[in-house]
Amino acid sequence: MSSSDQEDHDEDAPLFRHPTRPSAVGEVPVSQSLIKAASNVCFSFFVLAVLAVTVVAVTYQPPDPWLQSSAAITTSLARVLPNSSFLLPDDSLLPTGEDFPSPSTAPGAAAAAQRDSADQAATSTANNANATAGACDPDAPLNCTDPRVLAAVKAFNAKAFFRKSIVFLSYEAPVPGPKPGQCDVAWRFRNRREKSWRRYRDYRRFELTPGDGCALDVTKVGKFRSGKNAARPPRPKGPKKPRVAPPPVDAEINDTIPLVGSEAEFRRGKYLYYMRGGDHCKSMNQFIWSFLCGLGEAKFLNRTFVMDLNMCLSGAHTADGKDVDGKDFRYYFDFEHLKESVSLVEKGDFLKDWRRWDKKKGPGRISVRKVPTYKVTPMQLKKDKSNIIWRQFDGHEPENYWYRVCEGRAAKVIQRPWYAIWKSKRLMNIVTEIAGRMDWDYDGLHVVRGWKAMNKKMYPNLDADTSPDAIVDKVTKLIKPWRNLYIATNEPFYNYFDKLRSHYHVHLLDDYKELWSNTSEWHNETTAINNGKYVPFDAYMKVIVDTEVFYRSKAKVETFNNLTRDCKDGINTCNL
Ligand SMILES: *[C@@H]1O[C@H](CO)[C@@H](O)[C@H](O)[C@H]1NC(C)=O
Ligand SMILES: *[C@@H]1O[C@H](CO)[C@@H](O)[C@H](O)[C@H]1NC(C)=O
Ligand SMILES: *[C@@H]1O[C@H](CO)[C@@H](O)[C@H](O)[C@H]1NC(C)=O
Ligand SMILES: *[C@@H]1O[C@H](CO)[C@@H](O)[C@H](O)[C@H]1NC(C)=O
Ligand SMILES: *[C@@H]1O[C@H](CO)[C@@H](O)[C@H](O)[C@H]1NC(C)=O
Ligand SMILES: *[C@@H]1O[C@H](CO)[C@@H](O)[C@H](O)[C@H]1NC(C)=O
Ligand SMILES: *[C@@H]1O[C@H](CO)[C@@H](O)[C@H](O)[C@H]1NC(C)=O
Ligand SMILES: *[C@@H]1O[C@H](CO)[C@@H](O)[C@H](O)[C@H]1NC(C)=O
Repeated sequence: MSSSDQEDHDEDAPLFRHPTRPSAVGEVPVSQSLIKAASNVCFSFFVLAVLAVTVVAVTYQPPDPWLQSSAAITTSLARVLPNSSFLLPDDSLLPTGEDFPSPSTAPGAAAAAQRDSADQAATSTANNANATAGACDPDAPLNCTDPRVLAAVKAFNAKAFFRKSIVFLSYEAPVPGPKPGQCDVAWRFRNRREKSWRRYRDYRRFELTPGDGCALDVTKVGKFRSGKNAARPPRPKGPKKPRVAPPPVDAEINDTIPLVGSEAEFRRGKYLYYMRGGDHCKSMNQFIWSFLCGLGEAKFLNRTFVMDLNMCLSGAHTADGKDVDGKDFRYYFDFEHLKESVSLVEKGDFLKDWRRWDKKKGPGRISVRKVPTYKVTPMQLKKDKSNIIWRQFDGHEPENYWYRVCEGRAAKVIQRPWYAIWKSKRLMNIVTEIAGRMDWDYDGLHVVRGWKAMNKKMYPNLDADTSPDAIVDKVTKLIKPWRNLYIATNEPFYNYFDKLRSHYHVHLLDDYKELWSNTSEWHNETTAINNGKYVPFDAYMKVIVDTEVFYRSKAKVETFNNLTRDCKDGINTCNL
């Protein structure tokens, strides 16, 4: 890669920073900082591969961005994790599957593509059908079931200003709005800026009047998700078990835990069970790195992975700096996508079944191979016929980290299934809602402050360059006045950016608090998976949402490069 590529890269890399809580990482020894720096540079390479192709126009285009980037991240992480200590800074957000271009070979992609084209085919047939048919009495009251309504809405959407980043998939039948002349219409869409196959729903309120000939004209359209009457998706056909809780707004999320159906099925299965190791309560980046190692080994051994949905959020991401155990994987990641991508069972159910069906001796035994240490390699286990391979991760840190299984020679045979990890769709629904409220037409400003601004040794100019006046000075030169400006930041003081308000429509994450308040859809959906108990919207979730909203902005102003000449990893690291 040329050095200019690398520069491009540098400017993108701060996207992955942790914008809310860097103070927790306060005093970092210099040697460690250097390693962090190295790791960030490696990340930068990766980020380049991801973003170069899409966001930034660069000349170098890898033949297969997916392979390029997942290989790059694996190599770079492996390089900075020489013998065991996970030095990736907690203030960077590790990219996940939906940040990569979707490989057409990833599981689910083909099915998703098929679903999409079926949807689009259905959409276009519906479009032609009866679009101009039927009597058109201009004085008759508007009837939302009139096919001309849907035709008008589709034509309008296809032309609308937010079309550029949105792919319209299926439409639902319009329903009457609260007043005559209004119809609420729901549809599914995909965001081009998100590289996963994930679909989202929007529903808006349209006002229509008779236009030329038989056509109807859209005279007014509501904001994102304004068509409340169309909010509830139509019930899927076929029998459905009755629900106790109110149906979730996003009925497309299916987080149910896959169960082993019968004893015979259980006995036929081959499992790989990782007992909890030293990774528990470490950074989210370490979690992903370790978890993907386990999934990679399971794939290599052609076994079902036994997964613990219980997670521990590291103190680096919590308000009081204390680790919080008992978090659910599904708060942060997309379990539905995971279970479609890899073979897994849930730990609790698995252990119950095991206890229930194991005969202690004789032919009914469920055979187990206990593996006390990571030093037994995946290759040595390949031939093992036991029902269960049980990795126990005995010993002290760093001997008991999961990812050590994938080190050394194993690194050459185990492939981490990066495509299997997407961020939670519930969080992405919030991202979509925020971006949607600005009609996907906004610019982004990323302001890194926190401990870096305080560390004058490593960042001599950062504090001054991100002062309110300096920001106004710079940003007004880069972004047109009165644009929507979304500011992703780790600056805790809400009014810090007030001076920009006389030039822009400023949006901050905190402006959207009601999206995770306890009257929100998100709240309803997360309490449902937490046995009815309240789930706090924690700092890590905020980082995910803040970063992802910023990704979707049009013009992007970065702290490093655009606001300051300091290097993002400290003094003299710009060209590492
Ligand atoms: C890591 O291992 C290599 C060789 O395996 C050794 O040379 C090096 O000193 C080790 N580094 C640390 C930090 O232990
Ligand atoms: C148009 O609508 C009429 C009923 O209003 C229906 O009988 C006819 O099949 C429709 N045409 C097409 C092409 O679907
Ligand atoms: C709208 O048209 C449908 C059939 O096309 C009819 O069943 C319905 O009663 C009409 N609604 C109104 C308000 O006229
Ligand atoms: C949810 O997914 C499971 C498989 O994990 C499937 O058995 C179940 O039918 C799905 N439920 C719905 C409502 O689609
Ligand atoms: C993987 O295991 C399944 C059954 O568990 C078996 O049908 C399949 O042939 C195995 N594939 C390989 C490559 O061993
Ligand atoms: C919302 O949550 C707060 C705690 O964060 C609680 O004090 C309040 O009573 C809750 N409100 C409702 C309506 O549940
Ligand atoms: C959340 O659930 C409550 C009842 O449990 C319901 O009244 C409310 O409408 C739901 N909120 C949303 C936004 O779906
Ligand atoms: C930020 O700086 C980079 C590199 O200098 C430049 O390409 C980009 O256009 C700048 N952003 C804006 C909004 O001008």
